[in-house]
Amino acid sequence: MSKRFYLTTAIDYVNGAPHLGHAYEKVVADVIARFHRSIGDSVFFLTGLDEHGQKVQLAAQQEGQSPQLYCDTLANQWSAFVDRLNLSHDDFVRTTQPRHSCVVQALLHQLNDAGHFYKAAYTGFYSVKEETFLTEKDRNPDGTWDARWGQVNELIEENWYFRMGVHQQWLLQHIETHPDFIQPDYRRNEVLGFLRSQVLGDLCITRPESRLSWGIPLPFDPGFVTYVWFDALVNYFSVPASLGDSQATGPLGARYPVRPTSLEVWPADIHFVGKDILKFHAVYWPIMLHTLRAALPKTILVHGWWQKDGQKLSKSTGNVVDPLSVIDEWGVDAFRYYMTRELGIGPDGNWTDDSFKARYNSELANGLGNLLNRAVNMLNKYRAGIVPLPTPTLASEVQTSVESTRLAYLRHDPQEALIATWTLVNRANLFVEQTRPFTLAKDPSKASELNDVLYNLIEVCRILAVLIWPVMPTIAVKIYDQLKASGEPSNWQNSAWGGLTEGHQIGEPLPLFPRKDLPPKK
Ligand code: MSP
Repeated sequence: MSKRFYLTTAIDYVNGAPHLGHAYEKVVADVIARFHRSIGDSVFFLTGLDEHGQKVQLAAQQEGQSPQLYCDTLANQWSAFVDRLNLSHDDFVRTTQPRHSCVVQALLHQLNDAGHFYKAAYTGFYSVKEETFLTEKDRNPDGTWDARWGQVNELIEENWYFRMGVHQQWLLQHIETHPDFIQPDYRRNEVLGFLRSQVLGDLCITRPESRLSWGIPLPFDPGFVTYVWFDALVNYFSVPASLGDSQATGPLGARYPVRPTSLEVWPADIHFVGKDILKFHAVYWPIMLHTLRAALPKTILVHGWWQKDGQKLSKSTGNVVDPLSVIDEWGVDAFRYYMTRELGIGPDGNWTDDSFKARYNSELANGLGNLLNRAVNMLNKYRAGIVPLPTPTLASEVQTSVESTRLAYLRHDPQEALIATWTLVNRANLFVEQTRPFTLAKDPSKASELNDVLYNLIEVCRILAVLIWPVMPTIAVKIYDQLKASGEPSNWQNSAWGGLTEGHQIGEPLPLFPRKDLPPKK
């Protein structure tokens, strides 16, 4: 077996319903996963839920439920959500699963045996909401604590700590010598700037059970549970380990019971995460793996945050977008298209209903939908739906767009990939305007010119189905169905020119994107 292309999303806290930000991360990760599937890579795509910790314990308390029951109920809702987004994930991890917690415990044992932890007492201020100790630097100039910390308590507490500082130089060097390790570059520079200018403090990896019981028990000191981040990050590793990937089982040592299989998943090729959790992924996680003597992930790919109408998404102010109602109204592929096209990986984005509708109408309904509709209609009307002799009039332009699309996907830039694909949509629509097939059809002496136009249009539509499949898999299949094309749009090889052959009978036109209210003309 060969190494699978391993892609992960962050695992979401189960303390509420999924929102636009969660949807974005999952959709874009899925687009990358599907592209790699389409070029023939064997992919392992993991997503899931982060179920331990104070946030979840509090949310369960507020609902008057046990944390486990609360998580089980929400996990159903979240896995239904993932299905509605049409994700192609291979596994869905929940950190309350025994397959995960036993890896966390094995890992803790290994690192403790190797002397990376120590126990110490600490006096400090603690933010319950953010589950973190605060320092004097976190205070407002007037000595108060900012509202974002919620309730702040002074605590004296014994805990277990992970020696981080000794690995700072190693990590700095790793990031310096591996330019792909953190992308985009400005996020990489942020981490480098931090590591060059500040001393990395030790990480508190436990919470006393008396304060927080909802966590994985520390295997070598019963009064403690594992800090939620130490637990959560391990999900990326625990799933391959539980499936017997030797790259993951090996470092866990003799205490870990799962036998290796031939599966090769670890190390991750991409951890796709939001900018707020960069430090956990780019600093703590690599150090955890390094001390475990496990291979490091190849790339931590960091995306920005969505707002709506220029304001933070917020349940309390009602400034939210419900991805499911958008999907109900517009279809999952249109939603996936907008998520991918509107916001590239890196900067922050802004949802407005108007911009969604504008892209739907101009790029999907009038762009792609209209192109297919015209191509299928005209071939049916003028040639009884029978594909004429292939001619390569647009072949080299198509080749250029296909290649730019492919290269953009390989750079993990699905937004650019769509832009490259749409140059072809626009080119083909322009081709109709320039060649005027409806006029050619009136003149029998122009029959071969008409054949040329019809072939090129229908073949471009077929190729477009292949290019859009990672983003809009349902629409891609609908295009193939209308063309009665053989093979699958899910195979990138089918983007080669000439798939439709002379004499092939296509099907009837069906609208891909039902037209919706157009924005008012200004
Ligand atoms: N449980 C942790 C992650 C642990 S990963 C080992 C967590 N969960 S979260 O539910 O708060 O966030 C999950 C992901 O959603 C994060 O990558 C986060 O950046 C992303 N987003 C949360 N809100 C977002 C937006 N408004 N916009 C885009 N992504 C956002 O953090």
